[in-house]
Amino acid sequence: MHAGVIGLGAMGAPMARRLATGGLLGGVWNRSHDRARSLGLELGVPVADDPAALAAHCDTVILSVADDAAVTAVVTAMIPGLKAGTVIIDTSTIAPATTRRLSAMLTEIGVSLLDAPISGGIEAAATGMLVTMVGGDPEALARVRPVLDRLASHIVHMGPSGSGQAAKMVNQVMVAGINQAVCEGLAFARALGLPSDTLLPALGHGMAGSRLLEHRGATVCAGQFDRGFKVTLHQKDLLLARSLAEELGAQMPLIEMTLIQYRRLIEDGAGTQDISVLYRQKRKLFREEFPHDEDPGHRSGD
Ligand SMILES: NC(=O)c1ccc[n+]([C@@H]2O[C@H](COP(=O)([O-])OP(=O)(O)OC[C@H]3O[C@@H](n4cnc5c(N)ncnc54)[C@H](OP(=O)(O)O)[C@@H]3O)[C@@H](O)[C@H]2O)c1
Repeated sequence: MHAGVIGLGAMGAPMARRLATGGLLGGVWNRSHDRARSLGLELGVPVADDPAALAAHCDTVILSVADDAAVTAVVTAMIPGLKAGTVIIDTSTIAPATTRRLSAMLTEIGVSLLDAPISGGIEAAATGMLVTMVGGDPEALARVRPVLDRLASHIVHMGPSGSGQAAKMVNQVMVAGINQAVCEGLAFARALGLPSDTLLPALGHGMAGSRLLEHRGATVCAGQFDRGFKVTLHQKDLLLARSLAEELGAQMPLIEMTLIQYRRLIEDGAGTQDISVLYRQKRKLFREEFPHDEDPGHRSGD
């Protein structure tokens, strides 16, 4: 099986590495060619000139690109190289309606598009421990199972095209709530003068424990927000989730509150930082100054 990867960002690059070490990677493509060239060299795989060339060379293509416009652009660019029987696994987070539209278009040329958005963050991408919620043809999913098994420890078929993305919307609303809780709680802890090195393990073993606290608790306390899941990407997901909620006649306070705070972070220049940078806003609740270029950390790390 030859799998190609399109989009070599925070998630796509570690997924490509996992496929390469499993002997499954057939080639890569990325919009910024330098990124593709350096990963191609590192992994010893061909770098395609364009998405169509990669599609022609692979029977499975994994997409990990930013948003609806990016997925639409790369799928359209792949069309001249696509063969009947190819399966495209889109791990990006986009609107269910966009994936359904692209899936219907590809079905006409015998190509399957699975919406397979992922959860677990950069750590899970590097270790093959992602969770993926899959929408689309179950037979196509069965064919690409060896590829997905290399990337994900939990592969859940949710139903028809778009249902994977709908499940991911639920996931992203929950991530917003957990991020709110972790960042606000840790800002409160700092204001109380609690040492992070003893507090974090205590919290992590109790009911307040979460993946986000486990992977981001220490970096938040150290004032490090440079790697992970960009604020702008989560903002995009919450805007998609808000549209779905509006279709149901609902407004979700968690989405609204988080979007307001993310907008402020983006205005302050923190849009490309990890979503745990929300901690900076939460610190302001306790009237503490937290200039962007300082890293005060928690008491134990000061
Ligand atoms: N980071 C996470 O923890 C995480 C977790 C689960 C799901 N996701 C989702 O996975 C997807 C990728 O996330 P990421 O964190 O890897 O993002 P990222 O690091 O910002 O990488 C984005 C990738 O998309 C490419 N891209 C953007 N616009 C494009 C366009 N118009 N045409 C072609 N390629 C385009 C970028 O190419 P360039 O290199 O040229 O900019 C880059 O390869 C997103 O949908 C995100 O919501 C992320």
